[in-house]
Amino acid sequence: METVSKINELREQVKAWRQQGLTIAFVPTMGNLHAGHISLVTEAHKHADKVVASIFVNPMQFGVNEDIENYPRTMADDQQKLTAAGTDLLFTPKPDIIYPKGLAKQSFVEVPNISDGYCGESRPGHFRGVATIVCKLFNLVQPDVACFGLKDYQQVQVIQIMVEDLSMPIKIIPVATIREESGLALSSRNGYLTAEEKATAPALYKSLQWLAEQIRAGYAQQDSIDFIGLAKQAAKTINDAGLHTDYLHVCHAQTLQPASEDDTQLVILAAAHCGKARLIDNLQVNLA
Ligand code: PAF
Repeated sequence: METVSKINELREQVKAWRQQGLTIAFVPTMGNLHAGHISLVTEAHKHADKVVASIFVNPMQFGVNEDIENYPRTMADDQQKLTAAGTDLLFTPKPDIIYPKGLAKQSFVEVPNISDGYCGESRPGHFRGVATIVCKLFNLVQPDVACFGLKDYQQVQVIQIMVEDLSMPIKIIPVATIREESGLALSSRNGYLTAEEKATAPALYKSLQWLAEQIRAGYAQQDSIDFIGLAKQAAKTINDAGLHTDYLHVCHAQTLQPASEDDTQLVILAAAHCGKARLIDNLQVNLA
């Protein structure tokens, strides 16, 4: 696997592949790679001739009091994992390559509505940062397809809508969340958990599973389902286990609006603090 950090090096390789008529799949990451990221590379191989990955800890998507300075950076280990997964090219730009004028003077991409609630509310400006960097990386790599993990469910919806709204000729491939045996979704931020927190953290996913079962049971019995009341109960269980729920909502799977009686494609979205880590997770519930 070749690693490049300059834009012209990336463009030259992409151009050479294009001249050979080859297709390109793209996996953007912030590094500190785990099996979830590698599953994106594995999926990417199914959709194109060449796979390009990027590692860039994007300052625009971190809030002022967030963990950008301490965000784990493990480049050598990441390169080994990407090589083993058969990645063809890795792009590792420095911030001044991506934002040469600095963040304050940088044009940005805002995807309205879908970016507003949940993680968008708890982390103001986060999805503007995500949409901007993904748009910029798409312009640099010009992939045919791009793979994103469904653990970041709202992020996938934001990117899907950005691609549609801005007519980008790129197919977005959502990839299922990889979990530990305990049910805990793999995340770079799990590295912040102590052994004790690691034992309590699976309470988040367990509560989502409980809530999904209640919804399915209510639907099967043709009962009216109290989405808000059930979500409150699930949040209480998470808090009782020692986490601190940031949000937990049952939503329409595409619009992410609060679920209504008529919706059959749902997603439960949740975030909770566990020690120093802010964990996010979700569970899709398809009723019909
Ligand atoms: O999901 C991530 O790791 C990041 O949000 C992404 C998509 C690489 C953009 O920085």
